[in-house]
Amino acid sequence: MEKEFDRQVDRKGTASQKWEKYADRDILPMWVADTDFQAPPAVIQALHERIEHGIFGYTNVPGQLNQLIQARMQRLYDWQIEQDWLIWLPGLVCGLNLACRAVGETGDTVLSPKPIYPPFMSSPRLSGREVCTVPLRQNGDHFVLDLAALEASITGNTRLLLFCNPHNPGGAVYRREELEQLAELILKHDLYLCSDEIHCDLILEPGLQHIPIASLGADIRARTITLMAPSKTYNIAGLGCSFAIISDPQLRKQFIDVKKGIVPDVNLLGYTATEAAYRDGDEWNRQQLDYLRGNRDYLHREINQIPGLKLLPVEATYLAWIDVSGAKLSNPAHFFEQAGVGMSPGRDFGDNHYMRLNFGCPRETLEEAVRRIKVALSNELPA
Ligand SMILES: Cc1ncc(COP(=O)(O)O)c(C=O)c1O
Repeated sequence: MEKEFDRQVDRKGTASQKWEKYADRDILPMWVADTDFQAPPAVIQALHERIEHGIFGYTNVPGQLNQLIQARMQRLYDWQIEQDWLIWLPGLVCGLNLACRAVGETGDTVLSPKPIYPPFMSSPRLSGREVCTVPLRQNGDHFVLDLAALEASITGNTRLLLFCNPHNPGGAVYRREELEQLAELILKHDLYLCSDEIHCDLILEPGLQHIPIASLGADIRARTITLMAPSKTYNIAGLGCSFAIISDPQLRKQFIDVKKGIVPDVNLLGYTATEAAYRDGDEWNRQQLDYLRGNRDYLHREINQIPGLKLLPVEATYLAWIDVSGAKLSNPAHFFEQAGVGMSPGRDFGDNHYMRLNFGCPRETLEEAVRRIKVALSNELPA
């Protein structure tokens, strides 16, 4: 199976966002968060069969899918959910925006940790809310929430906290104790929580486990909108399929109300792929995680040997958050593009001292990226 992830699949000419950005330049695309791996064979097979049928009309949620999610939450996270808590969405960012609109009023403040996936900062604004970001804190060699700073930022207008676990960027996996403290904070201040857990099945660090914050107890569950999707894990982001889990009937109604007439149903190929991935994709993902762990370990070793760069252990995701401040570059994104490596600029996530590198690619591509980074920086930095 290792060979499968080593395989270079040509994505040029497929309208891939990741690859079209640098279509005419010799720049390795290591930015937007999809991988260069083909989806699991079971997913491709299910899509083939659905396409063969040849009729693509309006579609309900497939019969077994809600049950599959319910069983999955129990099996992987020891979380008992009801099927009617599920709301299907054509994208997870859509869910973030809906959460901002479903909770509170125009002019309210939405809290978010920082650095953070950019839609956490744009969705409050797009929803007529203010956004207040609070920096994460470095504790030893991993990032943690700064709960005291978060609490200090709460005002009378604060209604909602947007949370990302595992965290993008950087891949922090929040520990049970930290989640319990966050839950306490939410309850103490009568806030709501929207927990983006899209990377939950991409835990790389042995011994760590994903804990849905809503699984901690009935009180926090009633105040939480959990967002999940198969898109990152199984590389099917282009099929647009994700879901919210909302246990509280009133909160669920508010969420459904703001979605009505605006958000379309999930397309049928998205459902088909999701059902196949969740039914038959566990073993494939185990293999993928092994491969990604190898990429991560390689990258961690190499990056930390390059003067000017620093990478903390990436606990989850295929997105490395590299501190480039030591290289003293005036425009890091431009510099690395010139070097032939197209990463996501840290400034988009709220910190210009970093670059985010997507290592969801064959090892060979990653090795070439590292080689290019080394060459460019050795020309730049005094020996
Ligand atoms: C934390 C997080 N949320 C949401 C998304 C995007 O979700 P979607 O494509 O379903 O809107 C991403 C993609 O990188 C992400 O990293």
